[in-house]
Amino acid sequence: MNIILLGPPGAGKGTQATRLVDSRGMVQLSTGDMLRAAVKAGTPVGLQAKALMESGSLVPDEVVSGIIGEALDALAADTGVIFDGYPRTEAQAHSLDTILADRGRTLDHVIELEVDEDALVERITGRFTCATCGEGYHDVFKQPKVEGTCDKCGGHEFKRRPDDNEETVRTRMAEYRAKTAPILPIYEARGIVSRVDGMADMNDVSGAIVAILDGVPA
Ligand code: AP5
Repeated sequence: MNIILLGPPGAGKGTQATRLVDSRGMVQLSTGDMLRAAVKAGTPVGLQAKALMESGSLVPDEVVSGIIGEALDALAADTGVIFDGYPRTEAQAHSLDTILADRGRTLDHVIELEVDEDALVERITGRFTCATCGEGYHDVFKQPKVEGTCDKCGGHEFKRRPDDNEETVRTRMAEYRAKTAPILPIYEARGIVSRVDGMADMNDVSGAIVAILDGVPA
């Protein structure tokens, strides 16, 4: 099964993708994570992406579609994939069609997380992750059970993303509205779009997504 999780910055795409990885053995392909790894490693892609990401602008379509194709080539053909943060433009949506068709894959679901944008700024500016295993936390909504210790791996170091400040978040949201939201009709025309209330409790959001994947009527 191949699915897209769609929604503005902070909608919960990464949170829900991680849960599907744990519960269903799917693989999360997050272009944001892949680009951050490239920036950290100082690769040519990373050097190209760094300033754009820090400003909240999108990285060129051919760059992200290239890394998605490479990532899929590294997976077994029957591995289920969650696309998190990709596609983000009409051009990327068309590239994804080609990338999937070339590899004998089809797109099963596009799940849109519907959210209140004003609440997202609080979500994003309060977000932090374990520096060791990447487990996500939030200052208010999801603190480690023991302060300063990761629930998942026991690590003690945490980090925050450089683009998680209010000004950059506003730019990222504007990019979403202008370039990403308009791709939904492409998938609506195929009848594969489902919507989930992304403002609900994280566990309820997970339950709604699993019900969609399992074909359980709402
Ligand atoms: P990317 O890394 O994709 O960031 P994003 O889309 O802005 O999404 P986020 O990771 O901020 O949010 P999320 O929806 O995953 O939310 P999360 O689960 O963490 O992209 C970063 C940059 O890379 C872009 O700006 C661009 O420059 C570049 N880029 C990436 N892909 C690209 C592409 N395809 N094309 C071009 N450029 C690209 O949740 C947020 C917080 O809220 C967490 O703390 C979480 O604990 C909390 N939370 C989650 N769900 C809930 C809930 N239901 N209730 C309460 N709190 C919740």
